[in-house]
Amino acid sequence: AEALKIGIAGLGTVGSALFKIIETRQNMLAITCGRKIEIVAVSARDRNRDRGIDMSGVAWYDDPVAMASEAGIDVFIELMGGASGAAHAAVKAALGRGLHVVTANKALLAAHGVDLAALAEEKGAILNFEAAVAGGIPVIKALRESLTGNTVSRVYGIMNGTCNYILTRMEKEAMSFEACLKEAQRLGYAEADPAFDIEGNDTAHKLSILTTLAFGTRIAADDIYLEGITNISLEDIRAAGELGYKIKLLGVAQKTATGIEQRVHPTMVPVDSVIAQVDGVTNAVAIESDILGELLMVGPGAGGNATASAVLGDIADIAKSRPGAQLVPSLGRPALQLEPFVRGEI
Ligand code: NDP
Ligand code: HSE
Repeated sequence: AEALKIGIAGLGTVGSALFKIIETRQNMLAITCGRKIEIVAVSARDRNRDRGIDMSGVAWYDDPVAMASEAGIDVFIELMGGASGAAHAAVKAALGRGLHVVTANKALLAAHGVDLAALAEEKGAILNFEAAVAGGIPVIKALRESLTGNTVSRVYGIMNGTCNYILTRMEKEAMSFEACLKEAQRLGYAEADPAFDIEGNDTAHKLSILTTLAFGTRIAADDIYLEGITNISLEDIRAAGELGYKIKLLGVAQKTATGIEQRVHPTMVPVDSVIAQVDGVTNAVAIESDILGELLMVGPGAGGNATASAVLGDIADIAKSRPGAQLVPSLGRPALQLEPFVRGEI
Protein backbone atom coordinates (compact mmCIF):
# COMPACT_ATOMS: atom_id res chain seq x y z
CA ALA A 1 0.00 0.00 0.00
CA GLU A 2 1.06 3.58 -0.57
CA ALA A 3 2.67 5.42 2.35
CA LEU A 4 0.39 7.71 4.37
CA LYS A 5 1.93 11.17 3.98
CA ILE A 6 1.59 13.39 7.02
CA GLY A 7 2.48 16.99 7.84
CA ILE A 8 3.01 18.07 11.44
CA ALA A 9 2.15 21.68 12.37
CA GLY A 10 3.66 22.44 15.77
CA LEU A 11 6.94 20.94 16.94
CA GLY A 12 6.80 21.76 20.65
CA THR A 13 6.36 19.29 23.51
CA VAL A 14 3.87 17.07 21.66
CA GLY A 15 4.93 17.62 18.04
CA SER A 16 8.60 16.85 18.60
CA ALA A 17 7.74 13.77 20.72
CA LEU A 18 5.49 12.54 17.90
CA PHE A 19 8.19 13.19 15.30
CA LYS A 20 10.73 11.13 17.28
CA ILE A 21 8.34 8.23 17.87
CA ILE A 22 7.36 7.97 14.20
CA GLU A 23 10.97 8.22 13.00
CA THR A 24 12.26 5.58 15.43
CA ARG A 25 9.36 3.11 14.94
CA GLN A 26 9.01 3.17 11.15
CA ASN A 27 9.10 -0.61 10.68
CA MET A 28 6.79 -1.41 13.53
CA LEU A 29 4.26 1.18 12.36
CA ALA A 30 4.40 -0.05 8.76
CA ILE A 31 3.56 -3.56 9.95
CA THR A 32 0.83 -2.49 12.39
CA CYS A 33 -0.83 -0.03 10.01
CA GLY A 34 -0.28 -2.01 6.83
CA ARG A 35 1.44 1.00 5.24
CA LYS A 36 4.33 3.30 5.97
CA ILE A 37 3.68 6.52 7.91
CA GLU A 38 5.84 9.14 6.25
CA ILE A 39 6.46 12.62 7.66
CA VAL A 40 6.85 14.75 4.56
CA ALA A 41 6.35 18.27 5.96
CA VAL A 42 6.52 20.22 9.21
CA SER A 43 5.64 23.72 10.33
CA ALA A 44 6.60 25.78 13.38
CA ARG A 45 7.54 29.39 14.06
CA ASP A 46 11.29 29.22 14.60
CA ARG A 47 13.16 27.33 11.91
CA ASN A 48 16.47 27.51 13.79
CA ARG A 49 15.35 26.19 17.15
CA ASP A 50 17.10 22.94 18.17
CA ARG A 51 14.33 20.38 18.66
CA GLY A 52 16.53 17.29 18.92
CA ILE A 53 15.06 15.89 15.70
CA ASP A 54 16.56 15.30 12.27
CA MET A 55 14.40 17.15 9.77
CA SER A 56 16.55 16.52 6.69
CA GLY A 57 14.38 15.40 3.79
CA VAL A 58 11.29 16.94 5.37
CA ALA A 59 9.80 20.11 3.85
CA TRP A 60 9.67 23.11 6.21
CA TYR A 61 6.78 25.59 6.15
CA ASP A 62 6.71 28.84 8.11
CA ASP A 63 3.00 29.01 7.36
CA PRO A 64 0.86 26.00 8.39
CA VAL A 65 -1.91 27.08 5.97
CA ALA A 66 0.59 26.81 3.12
CA MET A 67 1.58 23.36 4.42
CA ALA A 68 -2.08 22.31 4.25
CA SER A 69 -2.43 23.42 0.65
CA GLU A 70 0.99 22.83 -0.89
CA ALA A 71 2.75 19.94 0.84
CA GLY A 72 0.95 17.04 -0.89
CA ILE A 73 0.01 15.43 2.42
CA ASP A 74 -2.87 13.05 3.24
CA VAL A 75 -3.14 14.00 6.92
CA PHE A 76 -2.66 17.38 8.61
CA ILE A 77 -1.55 17.02 12.24
CA GLU A 78 -2.34 20.16 14.26
CA LEU A 79 -0.19 20.49 17.41
CA MET A 80 0.16 24.27 17.64
CA GLY A 81 -2.60 25.15 20.08
CA GLY A 82 -4.92 28.14 20.34
CA ALA A 83 -8.65 28.43 19.77
CA SER A 84 -8.30 30.73 16.80
CA GLY A 85 -5.57 32.18 14.63
CA ALA A 86 -3.14 29.88 12.84
CA ALA A 87 -4.50 26.60 14.21
CA HIS A 88 -8.08 27.38 13.19
CA ALA A 89 -7.11 28.74 9.78
CA ALA A 90 -4.88 25.76 9.01
CA VAL A 91 -7.36 23.09 10.16
CA LYS A 92 -10.11 24.77 8.12
CA ALA A 93 -7.84 24.93 5.09
CA ALA A 94 -6.84 21.28 5.46
CA LEU A 95 -10.40 19.99 5.88
CA GLY A 96 -11.56 22.27 3.08
CA ARG A 97 -9.16 20.43 0.77
CA GLY A 98 -10.47 17.08 2.00
CA LEU A 99 -7.35 16.27 4.02
CA HIS A 100 -7.82 14.21 7.17
CA VAL A 101 -6.96 16.11 10.36
CA VAL A 102 -5.66 14.94 13.72
CA THR A 103 -5.54 17.51 16.50
CA ALA A 104 -4.81 17.61 20.24
CA ASN A 105 -6.26 21.10 20.49
CA LYS A 106 -9.20 21.13 22.90
CA ALA A 107 -9.44 24.94 22.91
CA LEU A 108 -9.96 24.87 19.15
CA LEU A 109 -12.56 22.09 19.36
CA ALA A 110 -14.41 23.77 22.22
CA ALA A 111 -14.72 26.92 20.10
CA HIS A 112 -15.19 25.50 16.59
CA GLY A 113 -15.53 21.72 16.89
CA VAL A 114 -19.03 21.33 15.52
CA ASP A 115 -18.33 23.56 12.48
CA LEU A 116 -15.08 21.71 11.81
CA ALA A 117 -16.84 18.34 12.16
CA ALA A 118 -19.51 19.52 9.69
CA LEU A 119 -16.81 20.62 7.24
CA ALA A 120 -15.05 17.26 7.61
CA GLU A 121 -18.32 15.44 6.98
CA GLU A 122 -19.05 17.55 3.92
CA LYS A 123 -15.60 16.88 2.46
CA GLY A 124 -15.50 13.18 3.39
CA ALA A 125 -12.49 13.80 5.64
CA ILE A 126 -11.76 12.33 9.05
CA LEU A 127 -11.33 14.62 12.07
CA ASN A 128 -9.68 12.72 14.94
CA PHE A 129 -8.92 14.25 18.36
CA GLU A 130 -8.21 11.54 20.93
CA ALA A 131 -5.37 13.54 22.52
CA ALA A 132 -7.60 16.56 23.13
CA VAL A 133 -9.14 15.03 26.27
CA ALA A 134 -7.21 13.40 29.12
CA GLY A 135 -3.93 12.96 27.22
CA GLY A 136 -3.20 9.30 26.56
CA ILE A 137 -6.48 7.91 27.95
CA PRO A 138 -8.64 6.60 25.06
CA VAL A 139 -11.80 8.31 26.27
CA ILE A 140 -12.88 9.63 22.86
CA LYS A 141 -12.70 6.11 21.42
CA ALA A 142 -14.70 4.83 24.38
CA LEU A 143 -17.50 7.36 23.77
CA ARG A 144 -17.43 7.22 19.96
CA GLU A 145 -17.02 3.49 19.56
CA SER A 146 -17.03 1.21 22.61
CA LEU A 147 -20.17 2.65 24.21
CA THR A 148 -22.27 2.63 21.05
CA GLY A 149 -25.88 1.85 22.00
CA ASN A 150 -25.41 2.90 25.63
CA THR A 151 -27.26 5.85 27.11
CA VAL A 152 -24.79 7.86 29.15
CA SER A 153 -26.02 9.43 32.38
CA ARG A 154 -22.82 10.96 33.77
CA VAL A 155 -19.23 11.73 32.76
CA TYR A 156 -16.80 13.10 35.31
CA GLY A 157 -13.21 13.06 36.37
CA ILE A 158 -9.80 14.62 36.69
CA MET A 159 -9.03 16.01 33.25
CA ASN A 160 -6.15 18.41 33.80
CA GLY A 161 -2.71 16.96 34.51
CA THR A 162 -1.18 20.28 35.52
CA CYS A 163 -3.76 20.93 38.25
CA ASN A 164 -3.60 17.38 39.58
CA TYR A 165 0.20 17.57 39.61
CA ILE A 166 0.08 20.85 41.54
CA LEU A 167 -2.50 19.63 44.06
CA THR A 168 -0.58 16.38 44.61
CA ARG A 169 2.78 18.02 45.28
CA MET A 170 1.18 20.64 47.51
CA GLU A 171 -0.43 17.83 49.51
CA LYS A 172 2.51 15.43 49.69
CA GLU A 173 5.45 17.84 49.93
CA ALA A 174 3.86 21.09 51.12
CA MET A 175 5.42 22.73 48.06
CA SER A 176 4.09 26.18 47.17
CA PHE A 177 1.50 26.57 44.41
CA GLU A 178 3.91 28.70 42.37
CA ALA A 179 6.80 26.22 42.61
CA CYS A 180 4.53 23.31 41.60
CA LEU A 181 3.22 25.25 38.60
CA LYS A 182 6.77 26.10 37.47
CA GLU A 183 7.67 22.42 37.63
CA ALA A 184 4.55 21.42 35.64
CA GLN A 185 5.58 23.95 32.99
CA ARG A 186 9.14 22.62 32.91
CA LEU A 187 7.82 19.09 32.40
CA GLY A 188 5.72 20.19 29.41
CA TYR A 189 2.32 19.57 31.07
CA ALA A 190 1.00 23.12 31.15
CA GLU A 191 -0.66 25.09 28.36
CA ALA A 192 1.33 27.86 26.65
CA ASP A 193 -0.72 30.17 28.89
CA PRO A 194 -1.02 28.22 32.17
CA ALA A 195 -3.99 30.34 33.25
CA PHE A 196 -6.05 27.96 31.10
CA ASP A 197 -4.98 25.10 33.37
CA ILE A 198 -5.19 26.66 36.82
CA GLU A 199 -8.35 28.68 36.21
CA GLY A 200 -10.18 25.57 35.00
CA ASN A 201 -10.79 26.59 31.35
CA ASP A 202 -8.81 23.64 29.99
CA THR A 203 -10.96 21.22 32.01
CA ALA A 204 -14.07 23.05 30.75
CA HIS A 205 -12.91 22.69 27.14
CA LYS A 206 -12.40 18.96 27.64
CA LEU A 207 -15.66 18.52 29.52
CA SER A 208 -17.61 20.29 26.76
CA ILE A 209 -16.15 17.91 24.17
CA LEU A 210 -17.09 14.88 26.29
CA THR A 211 -20.57 16.29 26.92
CA THR A 212 -21.14 16.70 23.20
CA LEU A 213 -20.06 13.14 22.48
CA ALA A 214 -21.88 11.62 25.45
CA PHE A 215 -25.16 13.50 25.22
CA GLY A 216 -25.34 14.93 21.68
CA THR A 217 -25.50 18.51 22.92
CA ARG A 218 -23.88 21.50 21.29
CA ILE A 219 -20.41 22.38 22.57
CA ALA A 220 -20.73 25.14 25.11
CA ALA A 221 -17.60 25.53 27.23
CA ASP A 222 -18.69 29.08 28.11
CA ASP A 223 -21.87 27.81 29.78
CA ILE A 224 -20.00 25.60 32.26
CA TYR A 225 -19.83 26.69 35.89
CA LEU A 226 -16.12 27.32 36.33
CA GLU A 227 -13.89 27.52 39.37
CA GLY A 228 -10.17 26.77 39.13
CA ILE A 229 -7.54 25.98 41.77
CA THR A 230 -5.89 29.39 42.10
CA ASN A 231 -7.47 29.97 45.52
CA ILE A 232 -6.51 26.61 46.99
CA SER A 233 -3.90 27.05 49.73
CA LEU A 234 -1.64 24.60 51.57
CA GLU A 235 -3.87 25.25 54.57
CA ASP A 236 -7.01 24.18 52.64
CA ILE A 237 -5.31 20.95 51.61
CA ARG A 238 -4.11 20.24 55.14
CA ALA A 239 -7.54 20.95 56.63
CA ALA A 240 -9.24 18.70 54.05
CA GLY A 241 -6.75 15.94 54.94
CA GLU A 242 -7.62 16.21 58.63
CA LEU A 243 -11.28 15.67 57.76
CA GLY A 244 -10.42 12.62 55.61
CA TYR A 245 -10.61 14.30 52.19
CA LYS A 246 -8.36 15.26 49.30
CA ILE A 247 -8.99 18.21 47.02
CA LYS A 248 -9.25 17.39 43.31
CA LEU A 249 -10.24 19.59 40.37
CA LEU A 250 -13.16 17.73 38.80
CA GLY A 251 -15.18 18.23 35.64
CA VAL A 252 -18.70 16.83 35.91
CA ALA A 253 -21.44 16.52 33.28
CA GLN A 254 -24.62 14.73 34.18
CA LYS A 255 -28.17 14.26 33.04
CA THR A 256 -30.80 15.82 35.27
CA ALA A 257 -34.58 15.83 35.02
CA THR A 258 -34.46 18.90 32.81
CA GLY A 259 -31.21 18.73 30.86
CA ILE A 260 -27.45 18.41 31.22
CA GLU A 261 -25.62 20.00 34.15
CA GLN A 262 -21.95 20.84 33.59
CA ARG A 263 -19.46 22.12 36.16
CA VAL A 264 -15.75 22.38 36.89
CA HIS A 265 -14.58 23.06 40.45
CA PRO A 266 -12.23 21.89 43.21
CA THR A 267 -13.99 19.08 45.04
CA MET A 268 -13.40 17.35 48.38
CA VAL A 269 -13.21 13.61 47.71
CA PRO A 270 -12.93 10.98 50.49
CA VAL A 271 -9.30 9.80 50.85
CA ASP A 272 -10.30 6.15 50.37
CA SER A 273 -12.20 6.79 47.10
CA VAL A 274 -10.62 5.63 43.83
CA ILE A 275 -10.50 9.18 42.47
CA ALA A 276 -8.48 10.32 45.52
CA GLN A 277 -5.74 7.81 44.64
CA VAL A 278 -5.21 9.44 41.23
CA ASP A 279 -2.10 11.52 41.82
CA GLY A 280 0.37 13.60 39.86
CA VAL A 281 -0.11 14.15 36.13
CA THR A 282 -2.44 11.15 35.99
CA ASN A 283 -6.02 11.75 34.86
CA ALA A 284 -9.16 9.69 35.49
CA VAL A 285 -12.41 9.72 33.55
CA ALA A 286 -15.55 7.90 34.72
CA ILE A 287 -18.45 7.26 32.36
CA GLU A 288 -21.75 5.92 33.70
CA SER A 289 -24.03 4.33 31.13
CA ASP A 290 -27.02 2.02 31.13
CA ILE A 291 -25.74 -1.13 29.43
CA LEU A 292 -22.11 -1.18 30.55
CA GLY A 293 -22.45 0.42 33.98
CA GLU A 294 -19.52 2.44 35.34
CA LEU A 295 -16.34 2.60 33.30
CA LEU A 296 -13.31 4.21 34.96
CA MET A 297 -10.23 4.96 32.90
CA VAL A 298 -7.01 6.10 34.57
CA GLY A 299 -3.76 7.06 32.83
CA PRO A 300 -1.22 9.72 31.88
CA GLY A 301 -3.08 12.97 31.25
CA ALA A 302 -0.38 15.22 29.80
CA GLY A 303 3.23 15.27 28.60
CA GLY A 304 4.93 14.78 25.26
CA ASN A 305 4.97 11.00 24.96
CA ALA A 306 1.55 10.32 26.51
CA THR A 307 -0.09 12.84 24.21
CA ALA A 308 1.89 11.77 21.15
CA SER A 309 0.77 8.20 21.81
CA ALA A 310 -2.89 9.23 21.45
CA VAL A 311 -2.10 11.30 18.33
CA LEU A 312 -0.32 8.32 16.83
CA GLY A 313 -3.34 6.09 17.52
CA ASP A 314 -5.49 8.58 15.57
CA ILE A 315 -3.03 8.56 12.68
CA ALA A 316 -2.97 4.75 12.70
CA ASP A 317 -6.79 4.68 12.56
CA ILE A 318 -6.66 6.85 9.45
CA ALA A 319 -3.92 4.67 7.92
CA LYS A 320 -6.16 1.66 8.51
CA SER A 321 -9.17 3.72 7.36
CA ARG A 322 -11.13 3.21 10.50
CA PRO A 323 -12.57 6.68 10.83
CA GLY A 324 -15.04 6.30 13.70
CA ALA A 325 -17.78 8.89 13.93
CA GLN A 326 -17.50 12.62 13.65
CA LEU A 327 -17.47 14.90 16.69
CA VAL A 328 -21.23 15.09 16.95
CA PRO A 329 -22.53 11.53 16.47
CA SER A 330 -25.11 12.76 13.99
CA LEU A 331 -25.26 16.43 13.24
CA GLY A 332 -28.96 16.03 12.48
CA ARG A 333 -29.75 14.74 15.95
CA PRO A 334 -31.71 17.18 18.10
CA ALA A 335 -29.55 18.49 20.89
CA LEU A 336 -30.54 18.13 24.52
CA GLN A 337 -30.77 21.39 26.43
CA LEU A 338 -27.90 22.36 28.69
CA GLU A 339 -29.08 23.72 31.97
CA PRO A 340 -27.50 26.29 34.25
CA PHE A 341 -25.29 24.94 37.00
CA VAL A 342 -27.01 23.67 40.10
CA ARG A 343 -24.63 22.93 42.95
CA GLY A 344 -24.83 19.34 44.06
CA GLU A 345 -22.93 16.24 45.03
CA ILE A 346 -20.74 14.52 42.50
P1 NDP B 1 4.08 23.90 22.66
O1 NDP B 1 3.84 25.30 23.05
O2 NDP B 1 5.17 23.13 23.29
O3 NDP B 1 4.33 23.84 21.07
C1 NDP B 1 3.57 24.58 20.15
C2 NDP B 1 4.24 24.47 18.79
O4 NDP B 1 3.44 25.14 17.83
C3 NDP B 1 5.65 25.09 18.72
O5 NDP B 1 6.48 24.26 17.97
C4 NDP B 1 5.41 26.41 17.97
O6 NDP B 1 6.52 26.80 17.18
C5 NDP B 1 4.25 26.04 17.06
N1 NDP B 1 3.44 27.17 16.67
C6 NDP B 1 2.76 28.02 17.47
N2 NDP B 1 2.15 28.96 16.72
C7 NDP B 1 2.46 28.70 15.43
C8 NDP B 1 2.17 29.33 14.19
N3 NDP B 1 1.41 30.43 14.13
N4 NDP B 1 2.65 28.78 13.07
C9 NDP B 1 3.43 27.69 13.10
N5 NDP B 1 3.76 27.04 14.25
C10 NDP B 1 3.28 27.56 15.39
O7 NDP B 1 2.68 23.16 22.82
P2 NDP B 1 2.39 21.62 23.18
O8 NDP B 1 3.18 20.73 22.30
O9 NDP B 1 2.45 21.46 24.64
O10 NDP B 1 0.82 21.53 22.80
C11 NDP B 1 0.40 21.46 21.47
C12 NDP B 1 -1.11 21.21 21.44
O11 NDP B 1 -1.40 19.98 22.11
C13 NDP B 1 -1.95 22.27 22.18
O12 NDP B 1 -3.19 22.39 21.53
C14 NDP B 1 -2.14 21.67 23.56
O13 NDP B 1 -3.29 22.14 24.20
C15 NDP B 1 -2.31 20.20 23.18
N6 NDP B 1 -2.02 19.27 24.24
C16 NDP B 1 -0.84 19.35 24.93
C17 NDP B 1 -0.53 18.43 25.90
C18 NDP B 1 0.72 18.49 26.69
O14 NDP B 1 0.87 17.69 27.62
N7 NDP B 1 1.65 19.37 26.39
C19 NDP B 1 -1.46 17.33 26.20
C20 NDP B 1 -2.67 17.30 25.38
C21 NDP B 1 -2.92 18.24 24.45
P3 NDP B 1 7.96 27.16 17.82
O15 NDP B 1 8.46 25.89 18.44
O16 NDP B 1 8.79 27.57 16.66
O17 NDP B 1 7.71 28.24 18.83
N1 HSE C 1 -2.28 21.36 29.99
C1 HSE C 1 -3.02 20.15 29.84
C2 HSE C 1 -3.02 19.43 31.17
C3 HSE C 1 -2.40 19.28 28.79
O1 HSE C 1 -2.23 19.78 32.06
O2 HSE C 1 -3.84 18.51 31.36
C4 HSE C 1 -3.18 18.03 28.50
O3 HSE C 1 -4.39 18.32 27.87
